[in-house]
Amino acid sequence: MWCTVLRFGPRLWTAGPRVAPRFRVCAGQDPCAGWVAMDIQQLANTLVVGLQWGDEGKGQIIDRLSDQFDMIVRYSGGANAGHSVIVGTTKLGLHLVPSGILREHVACVIGNGVALDPEVLFEELDLLAGLGVKAEDRLRVSDRAHVVMPYHKLEDKLSEAALSEDSKIGTTARGIGPLYMDKASRSNAIRVHHFVRPDVFRRRLDEIVERKNRVFGALYDAEPIDADAIYEAYSAHADRLRPMVCDTAHLLHRSMADGKRVLFEGAQGSLLDLDHGTFPFVTSSNSSACGVSVGSGVPARAITTFLGVAKAYTSRVGAGPMPTELKNGVGDAIREVGREYGTTTGRPRRCGWFDGMATAYSARLGGMNAIGLIGLNVLSQFDEINVCVGYEVDGQRLECFPSDVDVLERVRPVLEPIPGWKEDLGGCREWADLSAGARAYLVKIESILDCPVVAVAVGPERSQLLPRPS
Ligand code: IMP
Repeated sequence: MWCTVLRFGPRLWTAGPRVAPRFRVCAGQDPCAGWVAMDIQQLANTLVVGLQWGDEGKGQIIDRLSDQFDMIVRYSGGANAGHSVIVGTTKLGLHLVPSGILREHVACVIGNGVALDPEVLFEELDLLAGLGVKAEDRLRVSDRAHVVMPYHKLEDKLSEAALSEDSKIGTTARGIGPLYMDKASRSNAIRVHHFVRPDVFRRRLDEIVERKNRVFGALYDAEPIDADAIYEAYSAHADRLRPMVCDTAHLLHRSMADGKRVLFEGAQGSLLDLDHGTFPFVTSSNSSACGVSVGSGVPARAITTFLGVAKAYTSRVGAGPMPTELKNGVGDAIREVGREYGTTTGRPRRCGWFDGMATAYSARLGGMNAIGLIGLNVLSQFDEINVCVGYEVDGQRLECFPSDVDVLERVRPVLEPIPGWKEDLGGCREWADLSAGARAYLVKIESILDCPVVAVAVGPERSQLLPRPS
């Protein structure tokens, strides 16, 4: 068996190629020793990104890794994302503030690609302050990010409501689509550097609201929006935001040149990427690894570790095709044991078997060289587990993940049964504690994704994330 060796030192990105040489492993070893894992306590600049339709559990991996980084950067999406963090005994749902904010030595950055909702941002900062976490001094916001305004959230709701049942995307109603539409339109955009200059903000707001009122009235018969009321509430947000604003790309370049280590935190998942996901049932930003440069201003070659996070099964919220979905008791059992309910909207997630075709597509797309597999314990309940290893349409095996959702709706997943291990994994505290059946499952996932699993989660707690020994 040929395997990839991965070794990462703090400054490797300046020195050499991203993928290291291959070597041979003797037959008859522990199946999981096939890959020599990277030491996840020794990572250089790293991207953590979801490989499915979001909610993969990236927060658990980031929480574990954030200790060894100096900076954590959000680069795409907005308050549509959600991850839970635990402060003392309180569990908080954060949507915009990077999860690393809980580590006092970590500086957090909201990059230019983010849809910045000031209402949500300050709500979260206030909650954190109430729990004793001083976050404001350690947070920097890109002057090039775009500001989510109340009319974006209104437009999100109005436009979804106006669509036919078949066309609804099932958005989070956080104004994300309308915000990115306005960004692309340019004339309707309010960037952070506009927002923090009162005269510029007022002028742009008045012009935009006037146009929005005409459009919303004509399309949705909506009540007019009041620019004065928005200005009053949002200029207070602008005042509070101003000290945090800077050119974050420049800050990141300078910090990396000074040897600081940076973790890039993906939001949503690769299959929700506007260009590469299951369009149109996607979000409106580049949520895959492809978005990291554009959303942060950092060249991709500055990143050495591309850590893709996937669940040991599949979940999805909102509309759109999901070939391995199980609309039966098995899907319900995955949902209940995996607690598959949305952090942002509370919606029950659709659940199904691990989709190797879709996840391998995402892993290739983003050039992953490490995998974090979450929720392995959820599969312990089954006598037999299925894994999707390909798609068929009209009896023909597809070579690649389809770009057209009409095709994706029609695919038949090719399922390979794998014996269940029927052992509770929740008590495992290190890799060696995993049962042989669970390890065999990891080997299968590695062979499908052509990438080593470097950490596996057997439950949501910090102690239940097991890094692979290097
Ligand atoms: P939007 O991003 O709110 O416009 O929603 C577009 C699609 O992406 C919908 O199907 C949402 O359910 C989905 N989506 C957006 N953010 C997340 C997320 O953080 N996790 C999972 N799905 C998401």
